[in-house]
Amino acid sequence: MTMTLQTIHPVDTTPIVASPGSEDLDPLWRAIVDESRARGNDIHLPISFAYAERLCDAYPDADALVVRVAILLHDTGWARVDGSRIISEGFAGDWRTADVRFEHERHGCDIAREVLPPLGFDDEFVTRVTAIIDGHDTRPESRSIEDSLVRDADRLWRFTPAGIALASGWFGLTPAKYVRRLRVEIVPELLTQAAVEMAEAELGRSEALLKTEQLS
Ligand SMILES: [Fe+2]
Ligand SMILES: [Fe+2]
Repeated sequence: MTMTLQTIHPVDTTPIVASPGSEDLDPLWRAIVDESRARGNDIHLPISFAYAERLCDAYPDADALVVRVAILLHDTGWARVDGSRIISEGFAGDWRTADVRFEHERHGCDIAREVLPPLGFDDEFVTRVTAIIDGHDTRPESRSIEDSLVRDADRLWRFTPAGIALASGWFGLTPAKYVRRLRVEIVPELLTQAAVEMAEAELGRSEALLKTEQLS
């Protein structure tokens, strides 16, 4: 059993829609409009980004800019993977190790190397970001606290009503079955205590709102 990373700092478990959101990375958001149209990225990336900012507040030792840029870009590579294969290979069978997973990571690193330098990010920073994007779905272990916060933020969006709506459809599950999977499979994958607290709070609210117990 692995231990989750604890924190002595406050953990914000209020509904994620209440997050004020930052504006300093707006130019980077505008640089990935086309990439945001693939695989629900225009829902997934902003919600996961909001969670990443909360996780950075809970773990101030992490380099917040690396975490925020890495989560913003991590799945942009799906835009360069053939759309029909995203569902056929990405969510069926052994979906965690499907080729498309490796491909979206490699394309995501390419996109980071294309969009970041014109916005003033230097090579060293870009390398730290691509080190997290590369392997975010396919490498079993996290290599840094920044990597861990990105991995947890990548999962946390699924606990929101929007995440449940999109992802249950991808997996062909009812919302009720999908929230059970979140509890049994995804909560135990979380690497930080703050993320566990955020996940449980959001999931409880989503289950009540969506009447998943009644609609089972
Ligand atoms: Fe991914
Ligand atoms: Fe993701």
